[in-house]
Amino acid sequence: MDPKLLAEKAVEAKSRALPTYSKFHVGAALLCENGNVYLGGNIETSSYGLTICAERTAVFKAISEGERSFKAIAIASDAPGFCPPCGACRQVLSDLCGNIDVIMINHKNEIDVKKLDELLPYAFKDDDLSSANK
Ligand code: THU
Repeated sequence: MDPKLLAEKAVEAKSRALPTYSKFHVGAALLCENGNVYLGGNIETSSYGLTICAERTAVFKAISEGERSFKAIAIASDAPGFCPPCGACRQVLSDLCGNIDVIMINHKNEIDVKKLDELLPYAFKDDDLSSANK
């Protein structure tokens, strides 16, 4: 899929986010190897720490529907510039999606594409748990 098209889907997902407290809308669109796309928005609750980012909403929706292989995630936000995934989402994406393309879109509809490994170098991975399982 054209990265611009996936980015447009992230913009669409942004409109369904529920950022009750921050008022900062974020949308994500996760592309699976089989072509399926899962959308996610950030969701906030009155216990602020229970907020879930748009990226993790999309990933958990996809995983819980049985998806296991991913190609790219696009992210759109209310900020004028590119919205990179937060640290927690980088870890989740690294563990569950691997080294996928991360496509960010700004308000001018320009896109920037990075590999997840560029955004999270020297990541903690499940291999690092192996000593505990010996
Ligand atoms: N947020 C995301 O959904 N994704 C990001 O990559 C950065 C931050 C959300 C979390 C919170 O609802 C709001 O943006 C402000 O931090």
